Amino acid sequence: MLRSGVDNPRVPGSIGRTNPMSYEPAANRYDNPALYQRCGRSGLKLPRISLGLWHNFGDDVRQKNARALVLRAFDLGLTHFDLANNYGPPPGAAETNFGRILHTDLAAYRDELIISSKAGYQMWPGPYGEWGTRKYLLASLDQSLQRLGLNYVDIFYSHRFDPHTPLEETMGALTHAVRSGKALYVGLSNYNPEQTAAAAKLLREAGTPCLIHQPKYHMFERTVERGLLDTLTREGIGCIPFCPLAQGLLTNRYLHGIPADSRAGHDPRFLKPEDITEHKVGLIRQLNDVAQQRGQSLAQMALAWVLRSPAVTTALIGASRPQQIEENLGALQNLAFSPDELATIDRILAG
Ligand SMILES: NC(=O)c1ccc[n+]([C@@H]2O[C@H](COP(=O)([O-])OP(=O)(O)OC[C@H]3O[C@@H](n4cnc5c(N)ncnc54)[C@H](OP(=O)(O)O)[C@@H]3O)[C@@H](O)[C@H]2O)c1
Repeated sequence: MLRSGVDNPRVPGSIGRTNPMSYEPAANRYDNPALYQRCGRSGLKLPRISLGLWHNFGDDVRQKNARALVLRAFDLGLTHFDLANNYGPPPGAAETNFGRILHTDLAAYRDELIISSKAGYQMWPGPYGEWGTRKYLLASLDQSLQRLGLNYVDIFYSHRFDPHTPLEETMGALTHAVRSGKALYVGLSNYNPEQTAAAAKLLREAGTPCLIHQPKYHMFERTVERGLLDTLTREGIGCIPFCPLAQGLLTNRYLHGIPADSRAGHDPRFLKPEDITEHKVGLIRQLNDVAQQRGQSLAQMALAWVLRSPAVTTALIGASRPQQIEENLGALQNLAFSPDELATIDRILAG
């Protein structure tokens, strides 16, 4: 069932195609077993750093670079790639473009990959194009599979809680996705602790336990510490924080102004230049000093910092160039923080 359609690019679900550029993955990509951690109480292991395709995979970028990002990640043992129906621009383009890379380069490695997608935000006009109804979620999943050229995703998420749809209906749709073979696991994103606990109960009772939760978490955004991480631990759900680098703020990117080729410099849809205030840059510089004392770059320290929580399975980064993925993976060389270091970071963040 899961492999049907392979070798026929016209069939949704097919991922087979001749490989014009002869990609051979690095033979040593799995040489570091410590890279992988079990996700919550499931059996599934995820790499401690995962790659998200929210930015740098739309139709607005060089596809050669998008391909280089995916293949470098895979060569480094990063098996998990995160998408959503609306990633682009335009919405859907990231799935289409990633699907092309899958077909061209990774067809033989489908069973080594964990590919996720989500539905929740606006995708098409009318009353069925967003939120959490069964109608929207299942139609969106079919569209995602079509764009990706796959017949299943590994993880299918409800991208946001829908206050106007019974939770039973939303969770029922996730369960149906698994039962129909179109997803292997289900996840939640942007649900608060109470919503998460209620959803987890429904999913457990339906026999499709929640695998993972995807919340925003980085040094400047610590809401998850007020209940969500405890809920996830209690429920046995893994955690994959998104934007762990605060979209690039927690790197050396903005230490000396806004470079033209940075996210804030060329694509200020979500990270706006006016958000990069002198006050914030002052904090970033102090954090950078702490990172240097630890022998890390600021990006590496920011990733180690979210990974310090036992509730966190993997940090979901973005990258605009392969070297960033390499640098970020270096975070795993030093994950330990002394109480003094943590207190210093808290003091800096307090402002
Ligand atoms: N569930 C949700 O609602 C939700 C929402 C948002 C995101 N997400 C997921 O989270 C993923 C990651 O989000 P994000 O891209 O904002 O994550 P992020 O890791 O916080 O930021 C990534 C950006 O930081 C810069 N960067 C990364 N490594 C760097 C390094 N070593 N040195 C200097 N700059 C570096 C790059 O920007 P430059 O372009 O400046 O180089 C890169 O694109 C998304 O792709 C998506 O899968 C989920």
